[in-house]
Amino acid sequence: MSESNRIASAGPDNNSPAGLTAVPGVMKLSAYIQGESLIPGVENPIKLSSNESAHGPSSLALRAFRESAGELNRYPDGSQLALRQAIAGVHGLDVERIICGSGSEELILLAVRAYLAPGDEALLSENGFIMSNIHCTAQGARLRIAPEKSYRIDVDALLERVSEKTRFCTIANPNNPTGTYISESEMRRLHAGLPKNCLLLIDNAYAEYVDQQDFASGEKLVDEFENVMMTRTFSKIYGLSGLRIGWAYCPTEVISVLQRIRTPFNTNGPALATAAAAVQDVEYIRGVKEYNKRSLQRISRELIQLGIEVVPSSTNLYLLKFDAASGKSGSQAAAFMQSRGIIPRPAGGSDAFLRITVGLDHENEAVIEALSEYMAS
Ligand SMILES: Cc1ncc(COP(=O)(O)O)c(C=O)c1O
Repeated sequence: MSESNRIASAGPDNNSPAGLTAVPGVMKLSAYIQGESLIPGVENPIKLSSNESAHGPSSLALRAFRESAGELNRYPDGSQLALRQAIAGVHGLDVERIICGSGSEELILLAVRAYLAPGDEALLSENGFIMSNIHCTAQGARLRIAPEKSYRIDVDALLERVSEKTRFCTIANPNNPTGTYISESEMRRLHAGLPKNCLLLIDNAYAEYVDQQDFASGEKLVDEFENVMMTRTFSKIYGLSGLRIGWAYCPTEVISVLQRIRTPFNTNGPALATAAAAVQDVEYIRGVKEYNKRSLQRISRELIQLGIEVVPSSTNLYLLKFDAASGKSGSQAAAFMQSRGIIPRPAGGSDAFLRITVGLDHENEAVIEALSEYMAS
């Protein structure tokens, strides 16, 4: 099911006839294909392909966004101070150790550029966030990819792949496209088995959705160790994917390294202002989380009854597995859903899987209805 392996082996290996040469890591890649958003001939399809929030941003965030229009002639605050202060206040973190990026993916890129040299090894899990894989590949690193077990990150499999060349390890927790998580103690066990000179990047893009008691987002480990950083995003529960804004919490030394390569205006003014309002609207986020949890429970119950395997998710996405023996497949299910105006996302190499974002009630009902028809067909 791994998207990771697929991407790293794709791409032509030639360069321009004029002799212009791209670095070898880049030529191993093919261009990223984002989740579809259109169905030809369908007006307003139900887009459930990119794990966006169906609820959109809070009204306070929207107000801040509108107000920011008056400042469009100005460069943004390159120090990102107001947003860093807002994040630090809400999460109880050290403001000096927060850095913001154009999406959390930019912060992952900065970490890879700073800590991985060509020939170093990057340790990844089978179903990790695809951009981590892309950045490590482009950097010329050797990827060591650990298989997962029962749709979960397998810490033992990761540890088996550690070598003295391992300089970077990233774990999406919870993970995409599986929606599963590993516990705090498992994350600690992974960290304990990594070399001290290996940076562990905990990608917590979906952390706000998780309810389970044994889960912890990465900040405690960041405070304890010099080689752990955590990335977070406003693209998911905060409903701000379109603004491209994320943040990271890092040890002092890592912050000082990342600040050397962060461009001064990497985060735009409207994004900084809107995210600062969004993070402080804690009540709104609590409501979105509850709605998502309720929806996920209902969807899972209904789809399991139809005979579809639903991977237990702690996020706003869920992974479905169709049983080939009964003649069903993810690609057929996707085509059927598209014929009903719904856009899911194929999940990696295998035809058995389909990833769907949790939507609003009427959107989720449309999914259930379409899949019941497909399963009965
Ligand atoms: C696991 C994971 N990490 C990070 C991101 C990136 O989020 P952004 O760059 O929008 O902050 C995503 C987006 O889908 C994701 O699934």
